[in-house]
Amino acid sequence: MRWIDTLEAAAAEKLPEPVHRYFRQGSAGGITAGEAVAAWGSYRFRPHILTDVSAVDLRTTVLGTPLDVPVMVAPTTLQRQADPAGERAMAEGVAAANSLLGVSSNAGTTFADIGAVGAPWWLQIYVVKNRDVTLKMLDKAVEGGARAVVLTADTPVVGRKEDDGPTIWEVIPPEHLLANLDEDEYEADDLGKADDLTPDVIGWLAERTGLPVVVKGVLRGDDAKRCADAGAAGVIVSNHGGRQLDGAISTARALPEVAEALSGSSTELYVDGGIRRGEHVLAALALGARAIFVGRPALWALTVSGSAGVTRLIGDLGVELEHAMRLIGVPELASLSPDLVER
Ligand SMILES: Cc1cc2nc3c(=O)[nH]c(=O)nc-3n(C[C@H](O)[C@H](O)[C@H](O)COP(=O)(O)O)c2cc1C
Repeated sequence: MRWIDTLEAAAAEKLPEPVHRYFRQGSAGGITAGEAVAAWGSYRFRPHILTDVSAVDLRTTVLGTPLDVPVMVAPTTLQRQADPAGERAMAEGVAAANSLLGVSSNAGTTFADIGAVGAPWWLQIYVVKNRDVTLKMLDKAVEGGARAVVLTADTPVVGRKEDDGPTIWEVIPPEHLLANLDEDEYEADDLGKADDLTPDVIGWLAERTGLPVVVKGVLRGDDAKRCADAGAAGVIVSNHGGRQLDGAISTARALPEVAEALSGSSTELYVDGGIRRGEHVLAALALGARAIFVGRPALWALTVSGSAGVTRLIGDLGVELEHAMRLIGVPELASLSPDLVER
């Protein structure tokens, strides 16, 4: 059996049940979460033959940061439940793979400690009702060396989860969630998600941090254009792993329209959600993504094998992508194009 496919079951053996459930679950009826992987598998390729694929190059850059393989780790919370060293172990695994890490606003490790590992990282921000609290977190991320701010834009409210059994919030220690705010820096009410955001927030974040802003949660071409027009340096086609609006379109299906809307613009395009195989990465890149993110697979790999598991996950996806690029007859990432995918 393929190692990546063994990870979730192996992680389930090690994790407390509410944590495993939290990592895997989608919102509401679980439709969007449930169809994410199959949506990538529904694409068919139109390979070239008789091209020289003796040397395949997987290296790329994201906002100027070099990657060995166009696979990055998505921001996820509760990594200290997966591994005692939490985000530090995730960062070590990412560093060894020469990749890049998304770090959640709800991290259980300080940004300074994550930054000290040396992996390039982007801060994922939930802008909250009290903007001063958001600014405090942004300042700490800048100090910790974040190279970009990822604005999660699909969460004006947190998607409803339908739990049987104790929820995660009943079992985890609070310090696993908000290591980057001191207790005296906020009141409970401050942390409600801002539900009045407009594209102006992109300029605000860029100005306050001096960093490029990437908008996460884009599922439509017109919204991608609004983000680009407002100064976004990148957008991530994402439905939050099916954890926000249930029934939202799969990212595999949303990607082509977003790529078309951004064609000719300098805004970089990334995608996440249900990407589990080299062939899925290949489809994503051919349809216009510059690189992809994995969420749950990185949590499973961290649980099962710590930082080495994260390194192996990224490496294995790279090996599969390289193999698939040989078979599709395209040796470099820049030559992957939508005509390689039947739509
Ligand atoms: C357990 C878990 C926690 C997550 N936490 C966050 C978060 O704090 N901020 C955020 O923007 N996205 C969060 N996400 C969404 C991921 O960044 C990403 O969009 C998604 O997991 C990608 O789908 P995949 O898990 O199928 O690869 C979380 C996802 C999971 C599974």
